[in-house]
Amino acid sequence: MGTNSTPKPDTKGLLRGRFSEATDKFVEAFTASVSFDQRLYAHDIRASITHARMLNKIDVLTDDELNSICLGLQQILEEIEAHTFNWQVELEDVHMNIESRLIEIIGDTGKKLHTGRSRNDQVATDIRLFLRDAIDTIIASENKLLHALTDLAEEHTHTIMPGFTHLQAAQPITFGHHLMAWFEMLLRDRGRLEDCRKRLNQLPLGAAALAGTPYLPDRGFMAQELGFDGICENSLDAVSDRDFAIEFCATAALTLTHFSRWCEELVLWSSQQFSFVELPDRFCTGSSIMPQKKNPDVPELIRGKTGRINGHLVALLTLMKGQPLAYNKDNQEDKEPLFDAVDTLQDCITALVGLIPNIAPNKQAMLDATLKGYTTATDLADYLVRKNVPFRDAHELVGQAVQRACASNKPLEALSLQELNGEHSSVIENDVYQVLSVQGSAAARNHPGGTAPTQVKKAIDNARRKI
Ligand code: ARG
Repeated sequence: MGTNSTPKPDTKGLLRGRFSEATDKFVEAFTASVSFDQRLYAHDIRASITHARMLNKIDVLTDDELNSICLGLQQILEEIEAHTFNWQVELEDVHMNIESRLIEIIGDTGKKLHTGRSRNDQVATDIRLFLRDAIDTIIASENKLLHALTDLAEEHTHTIMPGFTHLQAAQPITFGHHLMAWFEMLLRDRGRLEDCRKRLNQLPLGAAALAGTPYLPDRGFMAQELGFDGICENSLDAVSDRDFAIEFCATAALTLTHFSRWCEELVLWSSQQFSFVELPDRFCTGSSIMPQKKNPDVPELIRGKTGRINGHLVALLTLMKGQPLAYNKDNQEDKEPLFDAVDTLQDCITALVGLIPNIAPNKQAMLDATLKGYTTATDLADYLVRKNVPFRDAHELVGQAVQRACASNKPLEALSLQELNGEHSSVIENDVYQVLSVQGSAAARNHPGGTAPTQVKKAIDNARRKI
């Protein structure tokens, strides 16, 4: 390497041929992105190797030049990973840092790498490669979480708890059914990520600065080498499209919105007032003043992180809304929100993968709350309907029975037939007590999508096939 005798290039002035003064120091720092876009190094190097191979294929680079560029880039990759690479803010971004180091290592041949390419199509390619990898990792973690949900749900196909509307106990459901509702949300989120991946998987390279390049790049070759499904069809769009980053953040925001709802439930359920679940100690923290406290910090923090991701989505939408075609420096602002959205989403999934299998439901407390909440009142109304009472009248009669139960501070099933019927009716007979049991109520909803234990078991089996 470094076989020719070209003098070391003045790397600090790599782009300043047409200027008569050096960049202002503040402007240099203000416009630089290397502090955060160095995260793209591996994807940048991978795309550069492919670009160089393509240049060789169309006879712009000789075999020797290609070889030397590839070895140089490989060395840079190793330097970066060994933390011996000297990142320089004067070189603005990851692309210029790597290119200038290449020239330093292999000499003039390094200066040929950027032929027929611009940082505009380069960075667009790098971010797509980065995000594609990130999505694959996130989907793998989501799959773990989907498995954790089905496993826990399977243990609790018969565990009765109150289902809520308006946070008031409404009807008996099973804990397994509730967990499978979470599963459905996450399965849709995974689908949205897969969708986003499909649309982002097009190659920008070859668009160069904005109009394409007279070297007639073999874009199909590069697309194939880099695992893209095809090329971005329009060069202007190729360098300026950031839809994929917005789509990712939108998906992340919705996923976090779901997580936030789950976590809100965990916070409520683990409170002393509910006591439905016990969270593992290792996922909770204490209070600095109140010795008795066990705070559900992890679910609270996940709930809180939602705001941060929503912010990134709005930041990206706002970033793009005023931009004329094609590339504008504004686009450099896409990275920090996107990177943080990736990290935050990944961290929240990791936390939930650790937490979900270890939440310990308190079956008795769940059952007591179900019994206390008159949750089989609808079953009583349905019972009356089966005895030919029109539903609206049944609703009224049951309402009165609930009022009597409240007044005597008893659950519905503790009322006598006389108390249940009230003064003017005798429709309710002895067979009602079966209907009033919370287990019977859940088991009666025995249809696809219903809460009956047999249905939940089927739902789990179907769900497992979809992971
Ligand atoms: N650091 C820049 C970015 O992230 C790379 C592209 C620079 N292109 C340009 N024409 N200045 O967007």
